Amino acid sequence: MIGIFDSGLGGLTVMREVMAHLPGYDLIYFGDTARTPYGSKSPDTVIQYALQIGEWLVDKGADLIVTACNTVSSLATKALRERFDVPVFEVVSPAVGLVAENRRIRCAGVIGTRATIDSGVYERMIRAKRPDISIYSRACPLLVPLVEEGWSKRAETKRIVKKYLYPLRLKQIDTLILGCTHYPILKDVIRIKAGKRVRIIDSSEAIAAAIKGFLEEHPEIEGQLNRNSAHTIYVSDITEHFRRIAQDILGIAVRLEHVRL
Ligand code: DGL
Repeated sequence: MIGIFDSGLGGLTVMREVMAHLPGYDLIYFGDTARTPYGSKSPDTVIQYALQIGEWLVDKGADLIVTACNTVSSLATKALRERFDVPVFEVVSPAVGLVAENRRIRCAGVIGTRATIDSGVYERMIRAKRPDISIYSRACPLLVPLVEEGWSKRAETKRIVKKYLYPLRLKQIDTLILGCTHYPILKDVIRIKAGKRVRIIDSSEAIAAAIKGFLEEHPEIEGQLNRNSAHTIYVSDITEHFRRIAQDILGIAVRLEHVRL
């Protein structure tokens, strides 16, 4: 099965895309709702949480691990790959790949949690492939709680998004990378506030396509995956609020399983 995890519900935007790109594959999702947010935590703590969850997913039978969280992807990919034998997918490289291959991109903005932006991972990876692109980054720490609160369509949220994006608009970015798996839920607002001509890069779509491509190239791993459409969602803290929002994101009835790590 494919194991997916995030600090909370943002990774469900990745799960939704994986379900769309790879219908029928068994998926197990873990949302660390008891310890969210990760974006304001130190690298050591994020790495420790990621390894613990990786261990749990592998014990549950995950044949590959998807870190559906930019914060984990930015800080813990190396540690996860060193610790586990199964393939580990992260959300940064697929988005970087989309930017790198598009020769029309001249000036890109990246938004994400404080931890992701402070890691500088997007700048480093984009500069390595496309030194000609100017990159401007902005941490948007208020957006994750607004999404988790179900406030994605509120006027207050629109104003905050506008304020966060204003410095990037001044730089006349032509592309904006959503460097946090919570942000696709705000995509409509972000698109309006970023400006009509700005291309939006959503890493949740990019990673699902990358996993699909990988499985096509690796039939030996694809053959290990069960295809009974079993989708199980585990969380470290269970609330009715989370269940409702999870249901909205996935568009299907959701039953949550509680797990204490
Ligand atoms: N979904 C996480 C990410 O993509 C952010 C949430 C958090 O701060 O825990 O970075």
